[in-house]
Amino acid sequence: MSLRLGDIAPDFEANTTQGTINFHEWLGDSWGMLFSHPSDFTPVCTTELGKTALLQGEFEKRNVKVLAISVDDLDSHNRWIPDINELSNTQVNFPLIADESRKVALLYDMLHPNASEKATVRSVFIIGPDKKIKLTLTYPASTGRNFNEILRVVDSLQLTANYSVATPADWKDGEDVIVVPAVSTEDAQKKFTKGLNIVKPYLRYTPQPNK
Ligand code: BEZ
Repeated sequence: MSLRLGDIAPDFEANTTQGTINFHEWLGDSWGMLFSHPSDFTPVCTTELGKTALLQGEFEKRNVKVLAISVDDLDSHNRWIPDINELSNTQVNFPLIADESRKVALLYDMLHPNASEKATVRSVFIIGPDKKIKLTLTYPASTGRNFNEILRVVDSLQLTANYSVATPADWKDGEDVIVVPAVSTEDAQKKFTKGLNIVKPYLRYTPQPNK
């Protein structure tokens, strides 16, 4: 069965380019991004892992640990990483799971046989410190993901976990946010001291509370 938002991310032990990882233990109190790519030495995957390595500081700032996976073996991963480093002028410092047995891919429903019999699709799972799944994405092999968009969602997830707000379309960190419907306008006026912009009774903006 596929995994849904709010489910506990399945735990596993896996061989990676940085040794054996027990997933939950490795996550500790951090957020996590587990993302699959179809296979090593392919062009789109090479750009995606390079981009993620370039954004590693942004993931760290948000306390997100990054873990990549494909069904290729460790030897292949270790031969491919220097290419990624060279082509994106970066250093891949996050682990890549070697999932030749497809154990993790099956656990996370990353194999979609009607799209590809052998390779994982481009799945992304964002996992919170409570080990629950906060976001899932599934992209086809032919479309590289936008990792700035993933960081944007992490910003929204981390904000909305702590305040009674939601984020509007195309929101970026620092922009006004929406007061959730569960909070009455009377309570919102007390709670959001930076001000309330009532556009409709059900659409009330306030400046981002943690800025
Ligand atoms: C790629 O990563 O470049 C790729 C993988 C599978 C199909 C198409 C592109």
